[in-house]
Amino acid sequence: MENRLVESPAWKGLELHFGEIRDISLRSLFAGDAERGERFVVNDLGIYFDYSKHRITAETLNLLIRLADERGLGEKINAMFSGEKINITENRAVLHTALRAPKGSCIMVDGHNVVPDVHEVLEKMAGFANSIRSGEWKGFTGKTIRNIVNIGIGGSDLGPVMAYEALKFYAQRNLTFRFVSNIDGSDFAEAVYGLEAEETLFIVASKTFTTLETMTNARTARKWLLEKLQSDTAVASHFVALSTNEKEVSAFGIDTRNMFGFWDWVGGRYSMDSAIGLSTMIAIGPDNFCRMLDGFHQMDEHFRTTPFERNIPVIMGLLGLWYIDFFGAATQAVLPYDNYLKRFPAYLQQLTMESNGKHVTLDGTPAGYQTGAVYWGEPGTNGQHSFYQLIHQGTSLIPCDFIGFRTSLNPLPLHQDYLMANMIAQGEALAFGRSAGEVKKEGVPDWLVPHKVFEGNRPSSTFFMDRLTPEILGKLVAMYEHAVYTQGVIWGINPFDQMGVELGKVLAMKIIPELHDRQKTLEHDSSTNRLIRYYRG
Ligand code: F6P
Repeated sequence: MENRLVESPAWKGLELHFGEIRDISLRSLFAGDAERGERFVVNDLGIYFDYSKHRITAETLNLLIRLADERGLGEKINAMFSGEKINITENRAVLHTALRAPKGSCIMVDGHNVVPDVHEVLEKMAGFANSIRSGEWKGFTGKTIRNIVNIGIGGSDLGPVMAYEALKFYAQRNLTFRFVSNIDGSDFAEAVYGLEAEETLFIVASKTFTTLETMTNARTARKWLLEKLQSDTAVASHFVALSTNEKEVSAFGIDTRNMFGFWDWVGGRYSMDSAIGLSTMIAIGPDNFCRMLDGFHQMDEHFRTTPFERNIPVIMGLLGLWYIDFFGAATQAVLPYDNYLKRFPAYLQQLTMESNGKHVTLDGTPAGYQTGAVYWGEPGTNGQHSFYQLIHQGTSLIPCDFIGFRTSLNPLPLHQDYLMANMIAQGEALAFGRSAGEVKKEGVPDWLVPHKVFEGNRPSSTFFMDRLTPEILGKLVAMYEHAVYTQGVIWGINPFDQMGVELGKVLAMKIIPELHDRQKTLEHDSSTNRLIRYYRG
């Protein structure tokens, strides 16, 4: 089936339909239906999802849902939730949903119920988090831990950083959190700048425990600590590991009693609610962490059980596909109007692009149609004073996700009104623009009119919620996870491997010894050879 997407009846129907509605404006769609702003809305789980400002009709949605049905989305959702090995290239189940399954549920992998394992780790994490938060856990010299440095990269960094920033309001403020990911030594140097080794805990987060960046930073951290504390035995009270690889953790010198495990059925970019979330749990406390997990779980259940026409992640995934494959949109902007979500777009970049950036379908043949879009964004209103110009008047079509909250966690007079007014106004401006006639009416001279025209017809979704809580964050993340899966299923690709990151890693390992050893003959292309020589100096 994988390769027949473009032959499927619904796809053909969408092609015809696209020809009919590509030039219809949002102005006329709204003018022709007074209820549109209510009709294309899902209000569930505390999320008001308005997708009326999309270039769709009821017919578009029917066809997209037919496409999802023809591609077997319902069965594929069940396959994922029930632990089938849908990550076929790595022969693995994909069960991030088990990480937030309530105690007592049963999810079998290879004849084993994994839910008790999940809860055992959560309890161990809670015990540890509480001992750091209360000051009971002491460093090597008997001092209380005040600084937590998470060392990880990709999914072992982006989730923890994003969640820490998003939920900082709920964090225990006498603890300092820093995050090291880059192999650039400056990242490590700045992360430990001003920290007392005696009061610092390093969390080494790596699913594989072999990643070059993380292991290099972890070794540097150990050296930094040992130089200051002058004893090898200090490692035990200042290092913990989050990993699936007990052997490598132990080889590094971390006592496996200080290791928090997870499993091969948790993808790196789907792991922020596994043991990888230890820094989040230390920051916000186990109760808040559980509220976040509950939010994830509620969205899982929504995705699993809600008919597609009211299913938030399914609709999101379908709309994304509509723009990517029919309108040729190459990017998708994510614009949170909440400063705490400043790292959310960066987090989504890995989630979406590492998942759906694939050129072949499950059977190994070229897709032949566009898959994953480039995700990017910045918080509003900052972005408005930077790149919004291109979204409003540029030549590319960039669908936008606006994310906002009715209540600010820091309700300073006027700020929230101004913030939300701006978010709402942006969606309105993008959709309806300002015509030449309207511009002229303002007395603008003819020559200037084209410069002041906003074509409009630029699509956006708005996600409106009451306030940013751990529970809502869980729902938002799960919502995007499942939208990604929806698209992956329809495109017939594997959203759960990441072979595309390997080649660069392999070539870097070859180049490392060539950088200083002038005896080594360089056998790359002429450009690469010259770059290596330039570095050699
Ligand atoms: O290089 C990509 C990647 O494999 C990501 O998928 C992953 O999140 C990241 O590296 C880090 O991997 P690990 O947690 O094993 O260190």
